[in-house]
Amino acid sequence: METLDPDSITAALRTRCFGRHPVCLPTTGSTNDVARDMAANGAPEGTLVLAETQTAGRGRLARRWLAAPGTCLLMSLLLRPPIPPAAAFGLTILAGIATARAVQRLSGLPCRLKWPNDVQVNGRKLAGILCEMSASDDRLDWAVLGIGLNVNLDPAAYPEIAATATSLSHALGRPLPRLPLLAALLEELEADYGRFLAEGLAPLRAEWRDKLVTLGQQVSFEGGLYEGRAEDVDEDGALLLRRAGGELVRITVGDAVPLRDPGHTGPIEI
Ligand code: BTN
Repeated sequence: METLDPDSITAALRTRCFGRHPVCLPTTGSTNDVARDMAANGAPEGTLVLAETQTAGRGRLARRWLAAPGTCLLMSLLLRPPIPPAAAFGLTILAGIATARAVQRLSGLPCRLKWPNDVQVNGRKLAGILCEMSASDDRLDWAVLGIGLNVNLDPAAYPEIAATATSLSHALGRPLPRLPLLAALLEELEADYGRFLAEGLAPLRAEWRDKLVTLGQQVSFEGGLYEGRAEDVDEDGALLLRRAGGELVRITVGDAVPLRDPGHTGPIEI
């Protein structure tokens, strides 16, 4: 089994700051918790925590994140961006775009995004991002970007996700080494983070729109409380939903559940 260790990671990286001092753990509860503790103890921006396996990996909306030992990239990156808490949603968006781009670059597989940042291949979930942060006095102290990327996972081994998840090995029919993927991912993240700090989401919006499978779909949020056609995303990352009555609603949290639209006869993408 290929393990990721600090020396090989440092040698493979082309970044200036991200991942330069990696912490590699055989097992932990959640890499986000380790990174949060390190943040509270003053660790610098770019600190990277990786684990071969997690006993309490978590996803958005209080879901569990499952991964067999040694098969995936399970990582948390500590950031200290000089932005107000209200702008932090942009971090989760740039992380999705950078992950999709890095995966596409290394594997050749076309990656799409389900709003806001689920990375999909062939309509199934390949990677997820959980951004957690701490703020005081209208200033972000730190943000932890937790990324789970299914590299050599066999989704069929987990009945809960077998029908909805994929991995690179599953999609390609062969295993992929994780180290070059990690290096590409950190490189794309660092570049997009720089763009985001300089100009917000504007430089990333065209690529995001292009990758967003959600746009044009009939979707539902919060168990049907909001339903409509996903029309666009705004400069802050919100999804603009056109309801049947014509009203435009800004959605900033939640999971987009695709609905079959009445005129649509083909398969439905998830
Ligand atoms: C989601 O799609 O719901 C987000 C999943 C995020 C999973 C990663 S794995 C590494 C890091 N540690 C965690 O406990 N969660 C994130």
